[in-house]
Amino acid sequence: MKITLHSPLDMHLHLRDGDMLKSIARYSSRYFAGAIIMPNLVPPVTTIEQVIEYDKRIEEAIDGDSFERYMTLFFKNSYGYDFLKEAEKYIKAIKLYPSGITTNSEGGVSSFEIDDLKETLEAMSELGLPLLVHGETNGFVMDREREFGSFYEKIASAFPKLKIVMEHITDRHSIKLLNEYENLYATITLHHLYITLDDVAGGLLKPHLFCKPIAKRYEDREALLDVALKAYPKVSFGSDSAPHPISSKESLGCAAGVFSSFVALPALCELFEKHNSLDNLQKFISDNAREIYDIVPIKKEVTLVKKEFEVPKELNGVVPMFYGEKLDWSYDESIGS
Ligand code: DOR
Ligand code: ZN
Repeated sequence: MKITLHSPLDMHLHLRDGDMLKSIARYSSRYFAGAIIMPNLVPPVTTIEQVIEYDKRIEEAIDGDSFERYMTLFFKNSYGYDFLKEAEKYIKAIKLYPSGITTNSEGGVSSFEIDDLKETLEAMSELGLPLLVHGETNGFVMDREREFGSFYEKIASAFPKLKIVMEHITDRHSIKLLNEYENLYATITLHHLYITLDDVAGGLLKPHLFCKPIAKRYEDREALLDVALKAYPKVSFGSDSAPHPISSKESLGCAAGVFSSFVALPALCELFEKHNSLDNLQKFISDNAREIYDIVPIKKEVTLVKKEFEVPKELNGVVPMFYGEKLDWSYDESIGS
């Protein structure tokens, strides 16, 4: 059995910088037609020059693969219309992090008052630039995303023309919001479709599954699976693949992030097949995103075949999701990659 995916897209990807970028970029660029590139570098990507330079470094790292980079800026309150008018030539969206909520987010937002955010949000709304949000409060870790819901409601109502993407949703309450506000959308990761908190901390602690937002309850995973498997038009795939060196994961103070880009397509095939939904995978992995973000991706066909795939224990110093396990689907080597 085979499936060919047309221009698979990853709408939330951390490619990092420096040696890590060089080590991991091709695990995305070989198999995806494009990706939204997260700006949480050190320092964060906040200027047009930084966007252009970072894009060049990615281009070098992907070594000729045809792979479109949808670049982003790190949200700041003070981006005015004129700056964003120029920036929109180089970026696809802007990513908002609450200050300190996850890796390299210290320069994020600390006030969620509309008055404090409106300079940038009004300009984005006028220019049609989507706002991508890491939606967590600093409350109790299992409640953070649900608590953030009132902020989503506030900005969705205050800026009805602004497209707001709730990134990497993990909580069933976020799905309810999708139905209530026309301008709310969401990305869903691979890991949140597979795991619950039990997989992370129910037995021996699994640092390579530790991420933000933390995986939640079974009923949350069910709700995410439901919208993903039916390829609900307001959701698209965003891996949130977030590599960290082994020394930062297997350490006192484990960094948050699951490295999933290399295994994402085989694992999604397995999941969608198991739930008799393979026919919907094309929409979840590409077609929905084309509509939501108004993009026409480069043409790239990626074929997967139902053949056992043993996931390596390590890829260039990073441990991938499903390390050492076997998946039912693999990339079709016969067509090359
Ligand atoms: O687990 C995560 N890792 N969640 C994020 O939001 C950021 C990411 C990272 O950059 O490592
Ligand atoms: Zn992320």
